[in-house]
Amino acid sequence: MSKTLVNGFNIERLLERFNEKFGVLDNSAADDFTSDGSAADGSAADNKVQQFFAPGRVNLIGDHTDYTGGFAFPCGIDSGSLLLIRRTRDNQFRFASTNFDMFAQLSKDQINKTYGDNWINYPLGVLDQFVKRGFDIDGIDCLFSGNVPNGAGLSSSASIEVVTAFAINEIFACGLSLMELVKMSQAAENDFVGMQCGIMDQFAVAMARDNHAILLNCETLEHRQIPLALNDFAIVLANTNQRRELNESAYNERVAECGRALALLQQHLPIKALGELQEADLEAHKGLFEQDNIAYLRAKHVSSENARVHAAVPALEQGDLIQFGRLMNASHDSLRDCFHVSSEPLDHLVTAARAHPGVVGSRLTGAGFGGCTVNLLHKDSVNQFVKNVGDIYQTKTGLTADFYTIAPGAGVRALNA
Ligand code: GLA
Repeated sequence: MSKTLVNGFNIERLLERFNEKFGVLDNSAADDFTSDGSAADGSAADNKVQQFFAPGRVNLIGDHTDYTGGFAFPCGIDSGSLLLIRRTRDNQFRFASTNFDMFAQLSKDQINKTYGDNWINYPLGVLDQFVKRGFDIDGIDCLFSGNVPNGAGLSSSASIEVVTAFAINEIFACGLSLMELVKMSQAAENDFVGMQCGIMDQFAVAMARDNHAILLNCETLEHRQIPLALNDFAIVLANTNQRRELNESAYNERVAECGRALALLQQHLPIKALGELQEADLEAHKGLFEQDNIAYLRAKHVSSENARVHAAVPALEQGDLIQFGRLMNASHDSLRDCFHVSSEPLDHLVTAARAHPGVVGSRLTGAGFGGCTVNLLHKDSVNQFVKNVGDIYQTKTGLTADFYTIAPGAGVRALNA
C-alpha cells in the first residue's frame, strides 16, 4: 500500500490504528446520519473520521514577554500534532494517542474536571471551553499523534489544544473564528491545566504561515507576518533532553513577579501592562525596587527583550542576519541573568554553539528550564555544528542533544477537506 506521509505522519496507518482503537462506527442504526455519513440536519458535522494538523512553534526572539503584554516573534515548525476525530453522538468522549499507551473513555459529566496530570487535560480543557459557551458536544472519538518532542519548549501542548479546538469547531459547525479558538485554547491552559501562560504559543500554532514568522503584539493581538528570508543561514534547534522539573510552578512564579514589578511601577508611571515599559523609564524608577530586586530584574528583562524584538525584526527585513543573531545572544543572556529561566545544560549548549564557526546567534527558546535552544548559523556549517556541539555537550553534561533543522511551517488546518 502506498504511504501518505503528511508532515511525517503515515495517514493510512493512523486510520488503521483509529479503527483498532475505536472500531468502525455502524451508521445504519443512526437515523441522524444520511447515507454518506453527513448529518441529517445538513450541518457540516458528520461521523466520518476527519484529519486535522497543528504545528509546534519555535520562538525566535521575545520570550517571557507575552503574558506582560509585550512582543514575541514565533514561527510554526513542520512537526506537530495530528488529530483523527469523529463525532459519535453517544455522549462518550474517547481519547487515545500513538505516543502514549493509554485509552480513556469519559462520559459527559466527567469532562469538566481534570484527569490526573494526563495529557488529555489539554483536549479536555478545550472541550470545557466549548461547553461553557453553550455548544452541545455530543461525543467524539479522538486519536492524537504527535511528532514534536514533549517538554522541548516547542509547544506540543498548544498544538494539541489548537488542533482540538479547530477540529471541534469544524465538525460541530460552531462557527467560531480562528482568533476565538486561539483564546479558548489559551483559556484551556490557564483555567483547566493551571499554567498561566500568555497567548504566544496558541497564536503561533494557529496563525503560522509557511516561511514566515509572526511579529505579535500580545496585548492587542495585532500582528504582522514577516518573510523569514534566511539567505545563506539556517535555523537549527538543539534539544537539551534535560528533564524539566518545577517547570509549571517556576513559570507561574515568573508571571507573579512580573505582576509585582508592574504594581510597583504603576505608583509612578501611567502604564497598564509591564510590556509597555521602556528601559529608560525602568532605570529612572529603579529606586522603587529597593526591597524587591527580583521584580526589578524581571522588569529589566521584559523591557530589554521587547526592545530586542523591535530591533530584530527590521534587522531580518534588511537581511542583516548577523545583527539578528547578536540580539538572539543578548536575549539568552537576559533570560539567564535577569529572568533566571536558563539551566546548566541550556547554557552549555549555548556556549558550545556560540564558539562554533558559522554560528551567529544561539539562545534558549520558549519557557526555558530545559527544552531547546534555537541557533542561527551558516547553512554550510550545519553538519559540523551538529557533530561538534553534540560532542562538547555530551562531554560537559553526560546528556545527548538532538538537533533539528526547521522549515517554518503553516498553522492549524484540516487535511482532508
Ligand atoms: C511558554 C508559554 C508562553 C510563553 C513562553 C515564554 O511557552 O506557554 O506563553 O510565555 O513560555 O516566552
